[in-house]
Amino acid sequence: MALRIDILTLFPQMFNGIFSESIIKKAVGRKLIELHTHNIRDYSLDKHRRVDDYSFGGGAGMVMMIEPIALCIEQLKSERKYDAVIFMAPDGKTFNQSKANQLSLYQNILILCGHYKGVDERVREFFVTEEISIGDYVLSGGEIAAMAVVDAIARIIPGVLNDESSALTDSYQNELLSSPVYTRPADYKGHKVPDILLSGHEQAISDWRFDQQLKRTKERRPDLLA
Ligand code: ADE
Repeated sequence: MALRIDILTLFPQMFNGIFSESIIKKAVGRKLIELHTHNIRDYSLDKHRRVDDYSFGGGAGMVMMIEPIALCIEQLKSERKYDAVIFMAPDGKTFNQSKANQLSLYQNILILCGHYKGVDERVREFFVTEEISIGDYVLSGGEIAAMAVVDAIARIIPGVLNDESSALTDSYQNELLSSPVYTRPADYKGHKVPDILLSGHEQAISDWRFDQQLKRTKERRPDLLA
């Protein structure tokens, strides 16, 4: 059964690009993943379709109101059971490969993208089951972060990548960074590909690649080995 991801956003059109290109398009075409965007504005109770209001207690920035988001989530929840209701937020738990692996095993995921100064805290309290950040920086909204999460999930669903084993040898998939890769020409203006890769010795190549993984990880991300 396809993994279904519902995305709640004020900017559904931002997702058109990633849905219609590359890996995600392939995953959708192969019915391995189903993506649905929902415009939170369609659930506004206001005749002007407003979805935000001033922050109680004052301060700069508008806050996304609970009602439109609640109506949209309640509608979706009445249609199916969600394994996770995710809120993209810079103060969430930092996203990583192991989280992507876990999410890729779910059936139904709902992702809420916030904007403005934030969303009313009660949304987080009553509806959200996990909060995910894609790094220690602030984006103007959760959409680009949600795209990163959807992409990371989609590409590890079996059948999405042509060479399924390639997702498993990714950097991070075994807690190590990837080894370097080369293709033709074997000699680019005197810069040669390591001889071992041209040797045809499978075991020696595999040992070399593992050594390179360790070396790279030690040099670039020693924290992963700790
Ligand atoms: N929304 C704004 N900044 C974000 C971040 N770093 N991660 C996830 N969602 C966000």
